[in-house]
Amino acid sequence: MGMGASASPAPDTPRREAVRGSEPAMASTEERTFIAIKPDGVQRALVGEIIKRFEQKGFKLVGMKLLHASEELLRNHYDDLKDRPFFPGLVKYMHSGPIVAMVWEGLNVVKTGRVMLGETNPADSKPGTIRGDFCVQVGRNIIHGSDSVESANTEINLWFTPEELVSYKSCVHGWIYD
Ligand code: RTP
Ligand code: MG
Repeated sequence: MGMGASASPAPDTPRREAVRGSEPAMASTEERTFIAIKPDGVQRALVGEIIKRFEQKGFKLVGMKLLHASEELLRNHYDDLKDRPFFPGLVKYMHSGPIVAMVWEGLNVVKTGRVMLGETNPADSKPGTIRGDFCVQVGRNIIHGSDSVESANTEINLWFTPEELVSYKSCVHGWIYD
């Protein structure tokens, strides 16, 4: 298929422009999730290892930045946990150093991403998962992943501007999807 004749959006054009009165078409392989390497994951030099797992799985990286998140952003991000006793400690932990914030794209990436992370408590996480392989305690579980498509969309909008997300055609798409 010639680049110019393609029905898919041109590289770098926003793919979810509002279409009046209808939902914009989105391929199932364009599902997105928000993944964040927490300050302990960054400090423990696990950034490359974690990115490698998502890359090797076949997911596509569409956004990434290193930032020291504000407490306000973190309180927003974990708003559903604000009444839990561990919430102040959670915000302090997440504010204790830089975070690598990422958006990954692919078929069922939200659900599969959570499987790749393992359970919230690393003690319950199987070997082969990120938390199962690299951490010990729930309060230092090195990585965040969105728990539903709805929360993924909320979290992506919270952490990234539309300009920070890059739409592009993966040259291996046809080797990952039939
Ligand atoms: P995350 O949002 O970070 O991906 O984690 P999750 O969905 O697996 O678990 P969630 O219930 O959303 O909890 C968010 C984070 O809060 C910390 N936590 N500490 N001390 C505790 O009992 C406790 N429980 C949760 C963890 O860092 C957890 O990932
Ligand atoms: Mg969560």
